[in-house]
Amino acid sequence: MITKCITLVLPVLFYYANCEINILGYIDYRTEVLNETVSSLCVLKEAISRINVTRIEIKNQEIPVFAKNELNGTKIRELSFISDKITDLEPGALDGSSIESLYFPGNRIKTLKKGVLNQKTFQTLSFEINQISEIEEDAFENLVVDDLNLEHNELTKITAKTFRRITVSAIRLGFNKIKELDELAFQGTAPLKLLYINDNEIEDIGKTFNNLPRIELLDLDNNKIKTLAPDSFQYSNISWILLVQNQITEIKNGVFNNLPFNFIGLSGNQIFKIENGAFSQSPDLKYLFLSDNKLGDLKKNSLGGLRGKLEVLEINRNGISNIEPGVFENFEFKQLILNNNTLKIIKKGIFKNVKVLNLQLIQNEITDIEIGAFDEHIENIDLSGNHLKEIKRGMFGTSLKNVVLRQNEISELDRDLYTINDTIDSFNLQEKEEELMCEDSEVSNVPSNVNSNIEVKLKE
Ligand SMILES: *[C@@H]1O[C@H](CO)[C@@H](O)[C@H](O)[C@H]1NC(C)=O
Ligand SMILES: *[C@@H]1O[C@H](CO)[C@@H](O)[C@H](O)[C@H]1NC(C)=O
Ligand SMILES: *[C@@H]1O[C@H](CO)[C@@H](O)[C@H](O)[C@H]1NC(C)=O
Ligand SMILES: *[C@@H]1O[C@H](CO)[C@@H](O)[C@H](O)[C@H]1NC(C)=O
Ligand SMILES: *[C@@H]1O[C@H](CO)[C@@H](O)[C@H](O)[C@H]1NC(C)=O
Ligand SMILES: *[C@@H]1O[C@H](CO)[C@@H](O)[C@H](O)[C@H]1NC(C)=O
Repeated sequence: MITKCITLVLPVLFYYANCEINILGYIDYRTEVLNETVSSLCVLKEAISRINVTRIEIKNQEIPVFAKNELNGTKIRELSFISDKITDLEPGALDGSSIESLYFPGNRIKTLKKGVLNQKTFQTLSFEINQISEIEEDAFENLVVDDLNLEHNELTKITAKTFRRITVSAIRLGFNKIKELDELAFQGTAPLKLLYINDNEIEDIGKTFNNLPRIELLDLDNNKIKTLAPDSFQYSNISWILLVQNQITEIKNGVFNNLPFNFIGLSGNQIFKIENGAFSQSPDLKYLFLSDNKLGDLKKNSLGGLRGKLEVLEINRNGISNIEPGVFENFEFKQLILNNNTLKIIKKGIFKNVKVLNLQLIQNEITDIEIGAFDEHIENIDLSGNHLKEIKRGMFGTSLKNVVLRQNEISELDRDLYTINDTIDSFNLQEKEEELMCEDSEVSNVPSNVNSNIEVKLKE
């Protein structure tokens, strides 16, 4: 039935012989039904005015101005103008049209004018990769949209009037030049759930992210934030916060307290201090990423009284040479990752009363592991890239299942290693890609001098 409609439509298209704009139309997302060249968007309007088109794509054409009324009467589920050199969207450009998702990637739009989007409803609205430096006051007033994408533009500020009276679930503002954020910038944006302002130039967040009760994810990665005040996120329901690659030096007590944070990303800052108590009232925290900071040696209070349900803790590259026993006490980690630090000796006590599914200590400077150091509930350990020379009986605890020891300097394996009641399934001592497996090794088959390229697999 739809095909019939198209047959009717084609002569209309041919009639306008003075062709300029190429249009691809789809009834569903795969079947192309139109591939025609027309003289203006108006012609398109007439051509498709009587059919429901799933998707229309107009790509690499020259449409400098998207004028008023050009789509009046059309029903297009998804309309994309891709790299069409559009510089201007006239107020009224979308009047009378019914479009669920509208995309303008790669055009040259500089200003979003009031009167283009007001009173409209979309699922997705994307102005990605344009040159937008100005959003007129109330340009989004009474716009209803699930996902608004303004990434890769030239925005420098968000005022209290930019997003006033918009109904939106996700706003994407990544890769702009935003420096100024009004404290009320997002107050009129219910029910905002996802807010991406990554890769901008924000130095100070003030109280902009207070009172956003529906927000679930806030992405502020790659900005220039230096400090987080204790009331930075008050009365907001943020569960995922991303602050990776900023310039934060200290985590003060109160910033993350009593909020339902589930995921906190703080890698790539310059954090040298976490105030005691800073994480002690984050009962829902499951993932904490602190890699590439300057924490140095870990003492009992270095991690801000962290406790509770934490499952993943990553502290790579922090210049840690020593860990005071008790730092990880009573945790049940799925992943505890301490790669690229400068640990030298793993002392007994560091992992006392800790449960860890995967412990990574890759690329440290470990030369020795005290007997009993891993005699806890640790299942998998990766100690690759250290300076271990020998493996002694008792070095690895009874809960261990897999030990990876690639790129060490091991030449001695204790003969008794496998006679004790270890539950270890696998010792991986490889240095190179080739694998040599000796399954069901008998004690007598394990050489006392083991070449570093051997993986010894043991079975009970
Ligand atoms: C549309 O038609 C033109 C000219 O016939 C052709 O070169 C082009 O590949 C077609 N595009 C698609 C996506 O089929
Ligand atoms: C187009 O969709 C509307 C509902 O959205 C429906 O009422 C109408 O019959 C459809 N028209 C055609 C030609 O399929
Ligand atoms: C859309 O076109 C109809 C006639 O087809 C007209 O009555 C109506 O005023 C137009 N809408 C706008 C917003 O211009
Ligand atoms: C935060 O979300 C929970 C449910 O996810 C809700 O019960 C609570 O009222 C919200 N908090 C605020 C301040 O709105
Ligand atoms: C350790 O750091 C080096 C250099 O930055 C990097 O190439 C390597 O992937 C890191 N190793 C791990 C296990 O993170
Ligand atoms: C088995 O392990 C337990 C706990 O480490 C130890 O006390 C016991 O002596 C071991 N048994 C043998 C036969 O080595």
